[in-house]
Amino acid sequence: MKGAPTVALLLFFLAIATSMADDWRETVGMGQPKVSHLHFYFQGVLTGPNPTSVLVAELNSTQASPTSFGSIYVHDDLLTEGPNLTSKLIGTVQGIEVVSSQTELSVTMALNFVFTDGEFNGSTLTVVGRNPILQDVREMSVVGGNGAFRLAQGYAQLRTILLATGSLTVEYNVTVIHY
Ligand SMILES: *[C@@H]1O[C@H](CO)[C@@H](O)[C@H](O)[C@H]1NC(C)=O
Ligand SMILES: *[C@@H]1O[C@H](CO)[C@@H](O)[C@H](O)[C@H]1NC(C)=O
Ligand SMILES: *[C@@H]1O[C@H](CO)[C@@H](O)[C@H](O)[C@H]1NC(C)=O
Ligand SMILES: *[C@@H]1O[C@H](CO)[C@@H](O)[C@H](O)[C@H]1NC(C)=O
Repeated sequence: MKGAPTVALLLFFLAIATSMADDWRETVGMGQPKVSHLHFYFQGVLTGPNPTSVLVAELNSTQASPTSFGSIYVHDDLLTEGPNLTSKLIGTVQGIEVVSSQTELSVTMALNFVFTDGEFNGSTLTVVGRNPILQDVREMSVVGGNGAFRLAQGYAQLRTILLATGSLTVEYNVTVIHY
């Protein structure tokens, strides 16, 4: 049988090719998901020499709009453990906010919560959603994260507790499912 070694060789190379093809994929279990409840305060500074929330663009018509429709803000705000600005710093919030309603005071937000303290130090949560700022409690979506929050999903409930001239404090309760 002259062909036999050739077939054996072919099968051998096929086996190698198959095992090589498998190298790029692996399916593993993720373990049980956890639910974390986070409670903290967002601190925004709107005016003064070091604002953390800055208007970067608007439409020609924004000034004439009763809702400031079309304004775009960039954020690098602080997260604190308690409502007082002097309470323990636990992170920052980096992101953008767009005034996106022509009939009510409502913004669309895309925010990254960057934790710098405790168990979640170095991890981030990405929160996106509609924020009708005059409503008592608003809700936005946790759409992902990194570090401890890879594959995170959840929701954030927020309430403005202080709107002093030039500053903004918002209480956040975040419920997040992660692994
Ligand atoms: C906005 O205003 C500027 C200056 O008046 C003008 O040159 C520009 O064409 C306007 N843009 C639009 C989209 O109306
Ligand atoms: C915030 O903390 C500072 C310093 O600890 C304190 O003087 C101030 O009274 C606190 N403010 C409030 C509203 O609790
Ligand atoms: C957070 O992590 C950074 C980087 O690993 C580290 O330098 C810092 O000391 C940590 N902060 C706290 C409060 O654990
Ligand atoms: C956050 O949770 C605390 C404790 O349950 C509650 O007192 C507070 O009203 C909640 N705030 C928001 C904005 O959901």
